[in-house]
Amino acid sequence: MKIAVTGAQGLLGEECVRTLGTEHNMIPLPSHHDLDLVDFNATRAWFLQNKPDVIIHTAGNRDPDSCELDPALAWTSNTLVTWNVVCAARELDAVFVHASTESVFPGDRDEPYHEFDEARDPLNVYGYTKLASERLVLQYLPKHFNLRLPLLFGRTGGLTRNNLLKARHNALSGQKTVAAGDTFSTACSVRDIARSLAIMLKTSFYGTYHFANLGIVTRSGYLQTFLKAIDMDPDWVTPSTVLEMARPARRNHHILIKSLLLEPTFGITLPPVEFALKEVIADMRADGTI
Ligand SMILES: NC(=O)c1ccc[n+]([C@@H]2O[C@H](COP(=O)([O-])OP(=O)(O)OC[C@H]3O[C@@H](n4cnc5c(N)ncnc54)[C@H](OP(=O)(O)O)[C@@H]3O)[C@@H](O)[C@H]2O)c1
Repeated sequence: MKIAVTGAQGLLGEECVRTLGTEHNMIPLPSHHDLDLVDFNATRAWFLQNKPDVIIHTAGNRDPDSCELDPALAWTSNTLVTWNVVCAARELDAVFVHASTESVFPGDRDEPYHEFDEARDPLNVYGYTKLASERLVLQYLPKHFNLRLPLLFGRTGGLTRNNLLKARHNALSGQKTVAAGDTFSTACSVRDIARSLAIMLKTSFYGTYHFANLGIVTRSGYLQTFLKAIDMDPDWVTPSTVLEMARPARRNHHILIKSLLLEPTFGITLPPVEFALKEVIADMRADGTI
């Protein structure tokens, strides 16, 4: 299959290109400097010229704070961009994979949200822009896989987009990384997502699917586990609280997602988060990234 990936230099996009590239003809979209997906005509022209069978759409602004500070820009970079890519997918009748988020939920309960829970009442502007994007996908594209994703981690994305690599880099430069220790969430390895897509894209079981490795993490806890696993001092990560950090966007103190559908539909079972993190570290070592 010919598979186009938006956000191909990002954490998830780069992994999709690498993993699916062993089997498919991948067409990574260029950086936003060369093709800004906000531009409807340029986006349409690119897709009509390349004619992918599948579009994996990961491009967007995933930083809740910058979204909160500039809601117009957040809508443009998340929802308008998605609309432009959705229009191209519709014209080409391409299968569409949408990278959505747990942030479409309010985080108002202890149990994990699953695929049959209705996305509603996001806590911040970022969540609203992603919920609006989901609705465009669900309404206009019958051939969609809408993936709801928690905190992502992996080997890809480089220093600016990969917070594991960033924490290591900070530690090597003698700088502490401050991260919330009081927000509990699920997490998922982008490698597990890309591998799952390799299976899902061979089917037409379209719909919304949740992705999470087994287990619960805090932002500071999983960075500390990573540093420890690569023989560095975990104290280079300082746990803080959402209150102390006083960031512009509201955060969920406790938001978990789980999948009821991946196993019965595709036979996919995601491993525990510790296992996935070990694989990421092995991949980083094999690539020479660390
Ligand atoms: N990371 C997480 O923890 C997380 C959690 C849940 C959901 N998600 C969702 O998953 C998706 C992928 O996340 P990620 O972590 O892989 O993101 P990322 O590493 O920040 O990468 C985002 C990519 O989007 C591209 N992009 C942004 N605006 C663009 C534009 N106007 N035109 C063209 N390209 C544009 C960027 O291109 P440049 O390189 O040119 O800047 C970059 O390659 C996002 O939609 C996010 O909402 C992420």
